[in-house]
Amino acid sequence: MELRVSSRRIFRPLLALLLIGGIGLSISAQAQTQPQAPDTMEQRVQGCTACHGSHGQGTDNDYFPRLAGKPAEYLFNQLQNFREGRRKYPPMNYLVTYLSDDYLHQIADYFSKQRPPYPDPSKPTVSADTLARGKQIVLNGDPSKNVPACAACHGKGLTGMEPAIPGLVGLHQDYISAQLGAWRSGTRHAKAPDCMHEIATRLTDDDVNAVAAWLATQRAPQNPVPAPARSMKTPLACGSEPQ
Ligand code: HEC
Ligand code: HEC
Repeated sequence: MELRVSSRRIFRPLLALLLIGGIGLSISAQAQTQPQAPDTMEQRVQGCTACHGSHGQGTDNDYFPRLAGKPAEYLFNQLQNFREGRRKYPPMNYLVTYLSDDYLHQIADYFSKQRPPYPDPSKPTVSADTLARGKQIVLNGDPSKNVPACAACHGKGLTGMEPAIPGLVGLHQDYISAQLGAWRSGTRHAKAPDCMHEIATRLTDDDVNAVAAWLATQRAPQNPVPAPARSMKTPLACGSEPQ
């Protein structure tokens, strides 16, 4: 099981990367030199769209996340995390190795402003009890385990908060559980204090399954923009979201 999941995560995307390798390289080359006209952001991010969709909306691949509409500073932090090894996924680590902060900011701004429609929510694949447990944790937390409500930081509409908390709608169930798993096992890190590490390690495997399953069945609200900065007081300190 483990082997099947990890080979799917690594090798299928690697194949995609090989196919678009030429484009990926030209992205890094452009970052090193003065861009030559014609040079639009659409062209520069072509190497990203095979995995993230033409407008960052994501694809059918369970592990390729939506980027569109997430706060720019969140996206920038992630690009830096991949460049500096705080997140590990070989194709992503490779693509951003030689890109400057300035260039990463431009890419992050570009995807944060994209507004492609959200996919239809997934059909539930777990029991009604599991879904109810997931909903409970997301909206109310679990005080017995000191788990705050996810919505306290990610927002009631689950669209995140400026400048650096991402929305949780429009993501695949497997992607969400893989990210929570990565925080638990220490392969994903955010700026200290890493509130998501704290929270993820208070959840059991069953909690993670329940939360990921429920989130994936949620429809994005009418106006899916992140809440304004400091509109919610986060129940834990997060280094990436200064308050
Ligand atoms: C081969 C497929 C592939 C390509 C090409 C690719 N990505 Fe990714 N990207 C991924 C995967 C898979 C993840 C999630 C990795 C993980 O599990 O942490 C990811 C994660 C991200 C994230 C973090 C998203 C989040 O919500 O935390 C950002 C930002 C991102 N990619 C931007 C880019 C940009 C910009 C490019 C082009 C320069 C690019 N990606 C090219 C597959 C790809
Ligand atoms: C105290 C505030 C806070 C709470 C509560 C919180 N989060 Fe987060 N979450 C964050 C921050 C900040 C980030 C961005 C971390 C980074 O920069 O990598 C984040 C990122 C995430 C991501 C990564 C999304 C992506 O696109 O890769 C997931 C998944 C996530 N949170 C799920 C949850 C779940 C599930 C809960 C409830 C059990 C929860 N969070 C509760 C602050 C919070």
